[in-house]
Amino acid sequence: MHHFDLKNGALHAEDVPLELIADEVGTPAYVYSTATLKRHYGLLRAAADAHREALGEALIAFAVKANANLSVLATLAKLGSGADTVSEGEIRRALASGVPAERIIFSGVGKTDMELAFAIGVGVRQINVESGAELDRLIAVAHAMDARPAVAIRVNPNVGAGGHAKITTGGKGDKFGVPADEAMRLYARASASSHVTPVGLACHIGSQIVDLSPLEAAFQVLRQMTLDLRAHGHAVTRLDLGGGLGVPYSGGSTPPSPADYVAMAARVLQGLDVEAAFEPGRLLAANAGVLLSRVIQVNERSDGQRFLVLDAAMNDLMRPALYDAFHDIRAVQPLGGEDQAYNVVGPVCETGDTFARDRILPPLEADDLVVFTGAGAYGAVMASEYNSRPLIPEVLVDGDRWAVIRPRPTYEDMLDREPFADWL
Ligand code: LLP
Repeated sequence: MHHFDLKNGALHAEDVPLELIADEVGTPAYVYSTATLKRHYGLLRAAADAHREALGEALIAFAVKANANLSVLATLAKLGSGADTVSEGEIRRALASGVPAERIIFSGVGKTDMELAFAIGVGVRQINVESGAELDRLIAVAHAMDARPAVAIRVNPNVGAGGHAKITTGGKGDKFGVPADEAMRLYARASASSHVTPVGLACHIGSQIVDLSPLEAAFQVLRQMTLDLRAHGHAVTRLDLGGGLGVPYSGGSTPPSPADYVAMAARVLQGLDVEAAFEPGRLLAANAGVLLSRVIQVNERSDGQRFLVLDAAMNDLMRPALYDAFHDIRAVQPLGGEDQAYNVVGPVCETGDTFARDRILPPLEADDLVVFTGAGAYGAVMASEYNSRPLIPEVLVDGDRWAVIRPRPTYEDMLDREPFADWL
């Protein structure tokens, strides 16, 4: 559910007309809803709290990679959210937004020594170790700092899932984590070290998963490994279940609810006496954001093709070009008239800059506004300046108030970043 609805014939973000934002901030722009963020976090929190017995005081650690804007993170931090991070930059963003270090998890397949030292230095809750090579480096870094960070071993459970091959992370050949047998050995190695404390296991098998069964299979692997590790005398107190639950990108699809997902996790973990962590990214943020864009023109071609040319492009929202992802497109001020089929494109000079083909939309003309829904996760964070198009602004709405939470850079800002080589 989200808070982008038609009121008096015009699309609003909560109580703010999107046309007002477009007029004042310009387009394209990302617009986020505080109420939707709160609602999604609240649903997951309530589900986790309802299963305290099986999940302990479960941590919900928002995956910062999905939406790293400081105001978005601060909104979630105020609700008690932790942060799942994969770089020093993300840890810094989480801390700057008020997420306490003890609620920050540091994951990722290639953390540098400097990043590991930074994470240890600020005292993150746990470092998810993804390989033997990384464990060795972490032990060396911790030794040099005379520290003893808590670690979880990331298991690759050999269960891949997700909305697209490029966002599947738990399959055999995927680069993330280690197979179960190796994880057992790494756990023992970590237990034997006086410079790390192994606290548990982690997994993440993919993103935009719309079926609970692969998730359940992965959680079962973690359960069995917990029992095996304990049988070998190791303490296992935390299980990090990753993210991955899919969201509805169109009115027609209904992925499992957060409540069903958490109930399934509770069923699998029942009786283990562990503290669970969830790392949702998309689930919290995707439908809390839209990409607001203006029609530049409609190209009606002699071959019958109709192109809706927008001022937003693949550099602003990569997902359709990268994963053939579907985002609903809605008119901000839908007028009457017969629906039409449009090829929806941006101005970037590649055929890949196509958001949708033969999309049925109400009649649209130059200067009309549209939104792409489901753009709050993996939207702004993945944007680039390709074709020298400056990054677009982000706006946060809360009821009837709104704020620019990342301004649009000027062309001067863009050019000033690049000093000329001194021989030119
Ligand atoms: N935790 C870990 C370790 C992850 O690798 C990810 C996402 C998450 C949590 C959050 O997963 P979520 O709940 O959002 O599914 N750019 C792609 C998605 C890549 C996700 C990679 N890992 C997209 O736009 O679909």
